[in-house]
Amino acid sequence: MSELKDHTSELTDLNYFTSQELVPDPNPYFDELRSQCPVVQEPHMGVYTITGHAEAVSVYKDPETYSSCLSPSGPFPGLPFTPEGDDISEQIAAHRDELPLHEHMITMDPPDHARARGLLSRLLTPRRIQENEEFMTGLADQLIDDFIANGSCEIMSDYAKPFSLLVIADFLGVPEEDHEQFRVVLGAPRAGARPGALDNEILSDNPLQWLDDKFTAYIEDRRRNPRNDVLTSLAQAKYKDGSTPEVFEVVRTATFLFAAGQETTTKLISAGLRFIGENPELQQRLREDPDSIPIFIEESLRLESPVKSDFRVARHSTSIDDVPIPAGSIVMVCPGAVNRDPDHFPEPNEFDLDRTNVREHLAFGRGIHSCPGGPLARIEGRVTIEKFLARMADIRVSEEHHGPADARRYDYEPTYILRGLTNLHLEFTPKATDN
Ligand code: HEM
Repeated sequence: MSELKDHTSELTDLNYFTSQELVPDPNPYFDELRSQCPVVQEPHMGVYTITGHAEAVSVYKDPETYSSCLSPSGPFPGLPFTPEGDDISEQIAAHRDELPLHEHMITMDPPDHARARGLLSRLLTPRRIQENEEFMTGLADQLIDDFIANGSCEIMSDYAKPFSLLVIADFLGVPEEDHEQFRVVLGAPRAGARPGALDNEILSDNPLQWLDDKFTAYIEDRRRNPRNDVLTSLAQAKYKDGSTPEVFEVVRTATFLFAAGQETTTKLISAGLRFIGENPELQQRLREDPDSIPIFIEESLRLESPVKSDFRVARHSTSIDDVPIPAGSIVMVCPGAVNRDPDHFPEPNEFDLDRTNVREHLAFGRGIHSCPGGPLARIEGRVTIEKFLARMADIRVSEEHHGPADARRYDYEPTYILRGLTNLHLEFTPKATDN
């Protein structure tokens, strides 16, 4: 099963990591891999690919065996050293600083990971999440106000990007008067906004550096002059052992949330709205039974998992389902594939609001790295669907932009890591009353 030469069928002849052909619909490729074995070494990059649910859970829950050091990048660029022997723990430690995103919790392993994650969990309090939901509700209305009279919109630019960006900004306590700057610099400007009309400071050509500088200024200010606000809680957060993090450590935690939480959530929102726009019966059912919206979100996450591939590196030689995995192997867990494993989800390709085990999907991963932003993303999805259904009747996919129902054209982000539409044009009938 793990022999490279075994794989000769058509789809797996394609290189998953470079082939644009697999971008529009990776599912037949995943199905083919799964039919060979839930654990298969793909033949192009030698990556061990996990498409089975049980196998994925076992990898996610074993951080002692599987390092997260390449979690968001996988084989490109891969390890900066040649693995030697049956345990590469020391090699990983010696080269960690050369790995992409090594300063962020997503690539860390125990015990460093727990320390970084502990800081974040102090911010994710039920009260903060509830306040953030209140903000989301108002924000959804504001964004919809800007386009509802047109009877049409492009979801990514008119709604999903500014929405997910400003939700994280609000979650971190960025004052509302700075929100416009965040929109302009981080690529979700209001239609017709002229950067030059705003503060000169924002004319940065490096948005990540701008974000870093902005949060450094916020945190330093709140450490000097504490106020009764969220940024002050962020500035005063301590590690579990009582020690105070350096300013750059707090800033790193804050800015990483923009990277981790923005694009993924835009993909959830567009996937959910596409299901609604494609399926009038489903839309009707959600209108009649709004309590099923949270399950609708879970089923959207299962079928269109925004993170389609996630990576681990075997620290020492091991095996999964009797497939030997040598130390130093890159293991790709595919939430997009695992969530359609027919052994776990019967009729996996059907959208089924009555699926009893839908919450067992792995769209947010599992184990110590499982997504801490999951609660926020779920609320973002629910609030969005509630608002769209309340303010618009007859939501439908635009034939002008995506073709007729039996021959749709959709463009997906050309990446092996994420799954999501680049644009989604919807049409609808504005409702006169609700707001
Ligand atoms: C639908 C939206 C989202 C999806 C599908 C998603 C998916 C994931 C997945 C699969 C992981 C685990 C990666 C791994 O184990 O290697 C993860 C980690 C993470 N996510 Fe999300 N995410 C979403 C939204 C968010 C949001 C809104 C935030 C922040 C506000 C966020 C912050 C993070 C962080 C900080 C991590 C790293 C956690 C760790 O390493 O311990 N995510 N996410």
